[in-house]
Amino acid sequence: MLRFLAENAMSYKLGPAHPGSKELERLAVIYAETFAESPWGERHDPRQVQKTLQHILDMPDAIFLMALDADSIPVGAMVGFSMDRKPELCARMMLRGRVLFIDELFVVASARGNGVAAMLVAGMISSAKIHGFHQAVVSTSIHEPVVRHLFLDHHGFTVAFEEDYIGRHLLPAAVLPTRRVVLVGSL
Ligand SMILES: CC(C)(COP(=O)(O)OP(=O)(O)OC[C@H]1O[C@@H](n2cnc3c(N)ncnc32)[C@H](O)[C@@H]1OP(=O)(O)O)[C@@H](O)C(=O)NCCC(=O)NCCS
Repeated sequence: MLRFLAENAMSYKLGPAHPGSKELERLAVIYAETFAESPWGERHDPRQVQKTLQHILDMPDAIFLMALDADSIPVGAMVGFSMDRKPELCARMMLRGRVLFIDELFVVASARGNGVAAMLVAGMISSAKIHGFHQAVVSTSIHEPVVRHLFLDHHGFTVAFEEDYIGRHLLPAAVLPTRRVVLVGSL
C-alpha cells in the first residue's frame, strides 16, 4: 500500500521506499531513456537496470525515493546509501557520524520543470535525518547545474572539492570524462 510522503503544487508526490515491480519496471525505462540523452549517450537494458534498482532497494542502508504523477505512475527517483560503500571518497573527506552518499537523480523528460527533482532532494534529506544520518555527500558533474543548485542553494550544502573525474553511473556503461564537484552538508 502506498503512503505518500509529500506532494507538490503540480500534483506530483513522493512515494515510499518500496516500489513494487511495476513501478521499478517503469523507473528502469525512465533511467535508460534519461541516460541515453546527451551528454551521457549510454545504452542500458531496462531489464538490467531494474535488477540494479532492486539490488539498491535490497541494501539495508539504502534510501530509495520515487516520485509519482497524479495517476501514481512513477516519473523519477533518487537513491542514497551509506558512504561506507565509497571508501576512497571517505578517506579524502573530513566526515563525522553516519554519512549518506546521494546518487542517481533522474526525472522523465515529460515531467521536468515541475519541481519533481526539488521534491526528491528535499525528501531525501528528510529521510536521511529520519534514518539517523548526520551528513550527506553528493558528487555531480559541473555540467549538471540542477543538482548543484538544489543542494547548495536550497539546502545549504558546501563544495568540498572539485576535480577532473571519469564519471560512471551505478550501472556498467560508457565512462564519461568530466569535471566533478563534491558537495557536503550537515543534516
Ligand atoms: C536534472 C533533473 C533531475 C531536474 O529535474 P526537474 O524535476 O526538472 O527539476 P525541478 O523542476 O525540480 O527544478 C529544480 C531546480 O533546478 C532549476 N533548474 C531546472 N533546470 C535547470 C537548468 N537547466 N539549469 C539551471 N537550473 C535549472 C529549477 O529552476 C529549480 O530551481 P528553483 O526551485 O530554485 O526554481 C532532470 O532534468 C533530469 O532527469 N535530467 C537528466 C538526468 C540528470 O541530469 N540527472 C542529474 C545528474 S545525474
